[in-house]
Amino acid sequence: MRHQNKKNLTTTLVTTNLDAKGNHGIPNPPIYRASTILSDNLAQYRGEEPQEYDYGRVGTPTSRAFELAVCDMYGADDAISTPSGLSAIVTSLLAFAKAGDNILFPDSLYGSSRRFVTKMLVNYGVEVSFYPPRCGDNISAYLKQNTKILYMESPGSLTFEIQDVPQMVDFAKSHNLITMIDNTWGTALHHNALDLGVDVVIEAATKYITGHSDVNLGIACARGQFAKKLRFSTTALGICAGPEDLYLGIRGLRTMNIRLKQSEKTGLSLAQFVEEQPETLQTLHPALPSSPDHELFKRDFSGSCGLFGFVLSPEVSQNTIDAAANNLEIFKIGASWGGFESLITQAILNENMREYPTGLPEGHLMRLYAGLEDEADLLNDLGRFFTALR
Ligand SMILES: Cc1ncc(COP(=O)(O)O)c(C=O)c1O
Repeated sequence: MRHQNKKNLTTTLVTTNLDAKGNHGIPNPPIYRASTILSDNLAQYRGEEPQEYDYGRVGTPTSRAFELAVCDMYGADDAISTPSGLSAIVTSLLAFAKAGDNILFPDSLYGSSRRFVTKMLVNYGVEVSFYPPRCGDNISAYLKQNTKILYMESPGSLTFEIQDVPQMVDFAKSHNLITMIDNTWGTALHHNALDLGVDVVIEAATKYITGHSDVNLGIACARGQFAKKLRFSTTALGICAGPEDLYLGIRGLRTMNIRLKQSEKTGLSLAQFVEEQPETLQTLHPALPSSPDHELFKRDFSGSCGLFGFVLSPEVSQNTIDAAANNLEIFKIGASWGGFESLITQAILNENMREYPTGLPEGHLMRLYAGLEDEADLLNDLGRFFTALR
């Protein structure tokens, strides 16, 4: 059944699925650890009588509580929970892809997704091809007679291109393609891709949903037949997240709005600062007016997040960047984002990661994530970083 967001989404995230009356007055749901779930009798075990939960891997009140909250968040008919963002992507692709199909992916696809589709999915007879993420209505040039799925990620990983999602959805509908999107950056709070018409929306709940750098968790949600296929895929593949992680997913949703807003605000300040530095050739943040995607961003997103990129001049040596980054006091060096701590990383885009030119100036591609530390302290730290580049 469709979950409607009648209240403001920020209220929904706080209030959804609270059942204090059914839980001894305790608002937060209990954590059920289960593999075996007992049936009342053999007939029920055989499936001749209804049984809400029958095996831990297939679902428990804990997984259901998280999944229903995700349904409320996106207005989905069903949501699946998986043990990582990547497994949500894999489970969603396997729900719909079959041998002989072609799937179109944006060239800015998240690296681990790219590894799965180019190194594993192809072994099952699925043809995988890439399109430039800003191709717009030129997407038809990449369509093949056997294309079945149009996959999006907006903004793209590392290079932050915004895709014209409504245009891609229109194109897909007129060519009978299934659409999917990795919506981890936008989240339901700033970019409800289901409402924009995408069939399957995926998020690494590892990032802003759980939000404390201590959990890998994924979600995928959909409406109608797409929701049924997602559910079948996760059940058939044996994909299930652990109960503690699911609980942390529910708990994360309660505070996600305020964490996201803080990270977004600090991220924008940092991006503006980075943009002003002479060593910066380009800042990759769609919420900056200088972004080539700014108009699309303003049309389709109601906000950004704390993750963005920038290109440093090639005149700065790698050794100088290393020394400056290693000397940062607050920013840490490490993968992931959406957690409490600010992070800096660097990416090298080789031919395995991009098929088409990115359009970026030559230089060092850096990535910053704004966590929950004080904005002025972070700006100070970043100021020291840029001074050390001189
Ligand atoms: C855009 C995007 N999608 C998916 C993932 C995968 O999430 P996980 O690491 O939980 O598998 C990540 C992780 O960095 C990501 O950045």
